[in-house]
Amino acid sequence: MKICMIGAGYVGLVSAACFSDFGWYVTCVDKDPERLAQLNRGEIPIYEPGLDDLVARNVAAGRIEFTGSLPDAVSDADVILLAVGTPVRRGDGYADLTYVFEAVEELAPHARPDAVITTKSTVPVGTGKEIERRLKQLRPDADFAVCSNPEFLREGSAIRDFTHPDRVLVGCDDDHGRAVMARLYEPLSLRNAPVMFVSRESAELAKYAANAFLAMKITFINEIADLCETVGADVSEVASAVGADGRIGPKFLHPGPGYGGSCFPKDVSALVRTAREAKSPVSLIEQVEKANLERKIAMGARVESAAGGSVRGRTIAVLGVTFKPNTDDMREAPSLVILPMLQARGATVHACDPQGRANAEELLPGVTWFADPMEAAAGADIVLVLTEWNEFRALDLKKLRSAMKGDVLVDLRNVYAPKLAVEAGFSYRGVGRGQALG
Ligand code: NAD
Ligand code: UGA
Repeated sequence: MKICMIGAGYVGLVSAACFSDFGWYVTCVDKDPERLAQLNRGEIPIYEPGLDDLVARNVAAGRIEFTGSLPDAVSDADVILLAVGTPVRRGDGYADLTYVFEAVEELAPHARPDAVITTKSTVPVGTGKEIERRLKQLRPDADFAVCSNPEFLREGSAIRDFTHPDRVLVGCDDDHGRAVMARLYEPLSLRNAPVMFVSRESAELAKYAANAFLAMKITFINEIADLCETVGADVSEVASAVGADGRIGPKFLHPGPGYGGSCFPKDVSALVRTAREAKSPVSLIEQVEKANLERKIAMGARVESAAGGSVRGRTIAVLGVTFKPNTDDMREAPSLVILPMLQARGATVHACDPQGRANAEELLPGVTWFADPMEAAAGADIVLVLTEWNEFRALDLKKLRSAMKGDVLVDLRNVYAPKLAVEAGFSYRGVGRGQALG
């Protein structure tokens, strides 16, 4: 089977590499010349654990190649997957489908008449129907099947998520499309991964509903964490007890500085707008969106309060700036709200992140960067943990404290045991673990 993947970003590149590892022949197209040049030099343009080896192995085996020529890449493909970005549209919060429709226009004249054209990008319900309408106009001679195959992988564990999915979801109302998509995922279904076939509209909406639900779960535990602080409970104990209920489950109950990333914020925003447009508003999710924006600001204020009411003239050493560990992705990272807020209130910011610096430098002007957390903390008044990288978990807290001038540790990911932090001489403030300790 020959596959063409349009878009070599987080989803396109990981999916393309995994499909090639299943034994399929994959041509991956990207229109970003720099990204393409990197890939053709054997470099991986994003940080995703394990991806470099996976790509190198399949390039060597001749099963994956990279090109900038979309017409050539689609011309002999059985399946064409669209994995281009669908960012928030400026001004109104809807999903911006410009890249999707551009790719559809580019591929239409060159695709085989029986090609299966599938959205892997997250697209609002109804997009498949609109793609089909446009394709009929552009290629009246062809009999394309248009399917939806939303992707559920997470950055940082993308390869494992792709190869061991909870489910593969295919939305398709066409027999030929279903048969080709079933064959595409056979290497997974043979290993008992559930491949679910549903209508195209159901698949499109299920992707947004899943992300909105996860965003809601995080927002829920963030609010419970705040309540824990005022009533003297410990959120990790509450989350364990609540999550032990099989109907709820323990995952995504870690409180923090608010969810970020390239997907939850934009997909929550798009779902809210799609639902309003359909005159069936999702008021619960509207509240999630509002609460998460407020959360990031509240966490900036928490640093101020932990510092005794003001950060003016203080140096804050920030550990972690990416939206989560094991990625270099800075999109919608809480650091992008919290650090400028602290700088505006007079703080000097030092920062350290194992992979994020290159993407973060431009987005966070005025920050001084360090390769090592101990160097970042030298002479600082406050240490602020924003991302739970493993590199920060095993820090020697006594050494960290003695490198600093002050004693405030604000741990917005609950990485450290409060008792150990206090023993190391810190005034410790976590999330949902009572008021300041020490
Ligand atoms: P990305 O921005 O990392 O990558 C998109 C790539 O598409 C870019 O390299 C861009 O140059 C390329 N591109 C755009 N138009 C093109 C065209 N016409 N021809 C060739 N290349 C083109 O985006 P991403 O994070 O991979 O997300 C892609 C989609 O997948 C989005 O809809 C997103 O919501 C969804 N998604 C993302 C994740 C994730 O973890 N990042 C997970 C699940 C789903
Ligand atoms: C998320 C979903 O988990 C994927 O299933 C989905 O495919 C993807 O979005 C997408 O559609 O793009 P991702 O954004 O890579 O994946 O990262 P997550 O691990 O979901 O984390 C998102 C944000 O929530 C991060 O800022 C993280 O710190 C935060 N989070 C997560 C919490 O604050 N608490 C938790 O318990 C879990």
